Amino acid sequence: MTSAANKLVQAAPARDFLAPVFAQYPFEVASAEGVWLLNTRGERILDLYGGHAVAALGYGHPGWTEAINRQARSCNFQTNAIPMAIRVRAAERLVRFSQLDFTSVFFVNSGAEANENALRLAFRMTSRPHVAAVEGGFHGRTAAAGAVTCGSDSWYGFPRKPFDVSFMPRGDIGAIVEPVQGLAGAVDLGKPYVEALRRRCDEVGAQLIFDEVQCGCGRVGHPFAANLYGVMPDMITVAKALGNGFPCAALLTSAKVSATLGIGLLGTTYGGGPMACAAIEAVIEAIESENLLENVRRVSDHIRRTCIVGPVKASQGEGFLLGLRTTRPAKQIQAELLEGGILTGTAGDSHIVRLLPPFILQEEHVEMLRDALASLPA
Ligand SMILES: Cc1ncc(COP(=O)(O)O)c(C=O)c1O
Repeated sequence: MTSAANKLVQAAPARDFLAPVFAQYPFEVASAEGVWLLNTRGERILDLYGGHAVAALGYGHPGWTEAINRQARSCNFQTNAIPMAIRVRAAERLVRFSQLDFTSVFFVNSGAEANENALRLAFRMTSRPHVAAVEGGFHGRTAAAGAVTCGSDSWYGFPRKPFDVSFMPRGDIGAIVEPVQGLAGAVDLGKPYVEALRRRCDEVGAQLIFDEVQCGCGRVGHPFAANLYGVMPDMITVAKALGNGFPCAALLTSAKVSATLGIGLLGTTYGGGPMACAAIEAVIEAIESENLLENVRRVSDHIRRTCIVGPVKASQGEGFLLGLRTTRPAKQIQAELLEGGILTGTAGDSHIVRLLPPFILQEEHVEMLRDALASLPA
């Protein structure tokens, strides 16, 4: 077991020119279809990790593939300075999908960039010098997003943080939050806490930002965690599932925040590019037309009911952002599952196996996971 665990995550061999900053899995993907990866040895691997929560529709989804091909044929890029119908459609589709009272969408390229812009708007609006973030939250690796990321001191790298930040224990009151924390190990902050955050921000005139980069766009079985809790934040940031692998992110702003926006206040070259917008439109179309939110809720229940076997003693999280609590180090279980052809993730919590599968996952796949777990030593 230990040798398998040691084999799983190792530094990239010095055989190419890629920056050696990622620990890598011991297999190479040749192609992928649905929820399956095919490695270069011709073996099939069930993907319950979805490229860090990105592959919402799985691989080779026909609607998404056709949408970006169609857009590439018609016009692959134009700047935000030139109007394009696809950009307007993607923004409208995202706001309608959210079922929340947002009035503007600013498209960017990554989760960190969305958070960076959200924080900038919050500072401008409140003139407050301080950000309260929640322990365990991960918000990205840029200057502001890294500053509000718990534990970033080990890699932050800049000589100083751009503003004051305090990290609240979960349960205390903060202003930028990951409502269902991903990297921490699928930790659901819970409705009463999130409601209390909203009340507190209103009392002190702070902006409430939900970082839904990982938990948003359907992953919790609702459009956003905000819907799950019934709490309206001032801003939501979203990425990952939003593009199904086409790089994109978005910042959604309430009417009050949107009213502060003006020409030149925010900017980006690639954000809102037509290819990204075609991907976003196709992702939302698929989630809605294929009832994927319902699928996520149903299959997530199935995982929680059937997979507490072998070395798994409990589950946590929401929808397809799930943590399986293990009796042994999660890295061991992850390595053993991979030897059996099932890809999972780990988390900051060393005893959590993290599942972030594509929204198209079915009960039959969960049964493969359950059987594999049941065959492992407890
Ligand atoms: C909750 C959350 N916020 C922000 C980020 C940063 O996103 P990106 O890597 O696209 O900058 C991540 C990435 O894992 C995340 O999980």
